[in-house]
Amino acid sequence: MRAAQTHCKIRPMALGDIPQVMDIERESFPTMWPQTTYRKELKNKLARYLVAYEPLSDDMNAAAPPEEATAPLQRERGLSGLLRRLFSPVAATQERILGVVGLWCMMGEGHIVTIAVREAYRRQGIGELLVVAIMDAAQEAGQDGVTLEYRISNHGARKLYEKYGFMQVGVRARYYSDNQEDAVLMSTPPLRSSKFRTLLSERLAEQQARWGDEYPLDGPAAKLAGADAGLQP
Ligand SMILES: CC(C)(COP(=O)(O)OP(=O)(O)OC[C@H]1O[C@@H](n2cnc3c(N)ncnc32)[C@H](O)[C@@H]1OP(=O)(O)O)[C@@H](O)C(=O)NCCC(=O)NCCS
Repeated sequence: MRAAQTHCKIRPMALGDIPQVMDIERESFPTMWPQTTYRKELKNKLARYLVAYEPLSDDMNAAAPPEEATAPLQRERGLSGLLRRLFSPVAATQERILGVVGLWCMMGEGHIVTIAVREAYRRQGIGELLVVAIMDAAQEAGQDGVTLEYRISNHGARKLYEKYGFMQVGVRARYYSDNQEDAVLMSTPPLRSSKFRTLLSERLAEQQARWGDEYPLDGPAAKLAGADAGLQP
């Protein structure tokens, strides 16, 4: 499936998204946060969580999308689904959450704490959209740069981060308790540096060409790469 065939949009994560986000994390990571942690995180003023989602028209709801993608939506039925639809700020049953990214803002440095894309939707450019959107959120929150860590065996993640200017700054030996795997630490150049913005402009042009009219990131793209970001050498 090409990216342009997925009608992907990006917005802040809402409480109603938690079940679908947990499904994505379950298929993406060996360990995951409990639901209560997500609830606390969404109230954390120093955190930003964004989701990539696909609006589902009535036709698409009826057209039986891939089984693993519909499972969380089907679980929305019954009393809990009804309550969620009544009280959630977002009608979660009308959207398929495709990916999630989270950031903690810590003393001028944003730290990506999670990023994952629904397995069936990977390699379509959604991970890249989430990276750009969260870097925009970091800049909006006054952060100078963005850091993260990944498992040393996760070559796909490294490729994604390198594509957006992250550079290795260290290794934490046996950081992950489930298998004692090392963590690699990466960091971007300053978000307002001309070096970073030149690289970002190139990547955004590629993204826009890939998504065409469906490109969902005009705001962040313009803000991060454009004049209103405030240029530094
Ligand atoms: C890492 C992850 C978020 C990437 O999401 P995605 O939507 O598949 O990524 P994209 O399609 O936007 O890929 C962007 C670029 O990243 C690189 N990349 C992503 N996945 C890759 C893989 N499996 N192998 C090699 N390169 C990969 C490529 O450079 C790709 O660009 P290209 O398609 O032009 O070659 C996704 O694989 C995932 O959810 N993995 C499980 C969770 C995880 O490991 N998260 C990272 C924790 S640190």
